[in-house]
Amino acid sequence: KIPVILDCDPGHDDSFAIILSSFSSRIDLKAIITEGGNQTIQKTTQNALKTLTVIGKQNIPVIQGQDFPLMIKERVCPEIHGETGLDGTEFPPVEVSPVNVKDGKVIQKGVVFLAEFIEKQEKPITLVCTARLTNIALLFTLYPELTKKIQQVVLLAGAIGSGNITPVSEFNILGDPHAAKILFDLGEEDLKIVMVPLEVSHTVLVTEQIFERIRKETENSKFGKLCENLLRFFQKTYATVFMMEDPPLHDPVAVQYVVNPSIFQEKRLRVDIECCSPLSFGQTVVDIYQSTQKPKNVHVCFKVEVEKFWDSMINAIVLGK
Ligand code: BDR
Ligand code: CA
Repeated sequence: KIPVILDCDPGHDDSFAIILSSFSSRIDLKAIITEGGNQTIQKTTQNALKTLTVIGKQNIPVIQGQDFPLMIKERVCPEIHGETGLDGTEFPPVEVSPVNVKDGKVIQKGVVFLAEFIEKQEKPITLVCTARLTNIALLFTLYPELTKKIQQVVLLAGAIGSGNITPVSEFNILGDPHAAKILFDLGEEDLKIVMVPLEVSHTVLVTEQIFERIRKETENSKFGKLCENLLRFFQKTYATVFMMEDPPLHDPVAVQYVVNPSIFQEKRLRVDIECCSPLSFGQTVVDIYQSTQKPKNVHVCFKVEVEKFWDSMINAIVLGK
């Protein structure tokens, strides 16, 4: 099994990334570290714990990560994910705390806890990041030697063309572009970075056929219903904000890359992060035609076999019931 640490901001689609990585037979989910983003860090951390509780995986440690981006003000997203960050359904009460929090107080910085945790692992770790990249940028800045213990970093982030928050910027990169720049620059050396951009996640849509499959294959279980409620909420907000009838289930697509990279088309290219221009702040500038001659730093995905993704995702939901 592939040892994975998931860095996320649940968030509806992040919750499905947790479900997929918890039940994939190819993944050993070692820990989750949280970021703010879809909601505040306190809420996303609770949502990670809620998701693990409902699937009976409370034993997976949750580390509460950095509160805020490195240099800019935080942006949260209640218009898509609601006030809790995971609106649309009721969860059972949570009885566990993040491993670095006691009586509601952070007793060790998440990034420091993460560094010690990775240091102790025998096998190289795959990091899957489905939120802004603040924790990871700090991790490799403070502990550069740890890149040697990383197999690869797989991101749900960025866009080759159009963004989803500004015309060119995607939410996770725009949330902390300076952090993204720190990480992407490390891809020039021996750190493997994989970027699953919006062009790929926007092909993974929760259609009515998918709702139907979930209902059928979970045999209308309580957990199947909970998943459906979450996805219905997501569908409603996506329709209002983006005028998309079927919402894209972004984050688990990055997990799927770890499970089965052969169903992705990818190319190693130069990708830079725009951190200055007011017009294109947070853009992932992808040098498709290699016009800059700068060293390549990122494996950019262009396509995924959507059916195969859904087979894995629905299988995980069935196992979650
Ligand atoms: C990304 O933004 C977040 O709202 C989602 O959880 C996903 O990680 C898509 O742009
Ligand atoms: Ca996310």
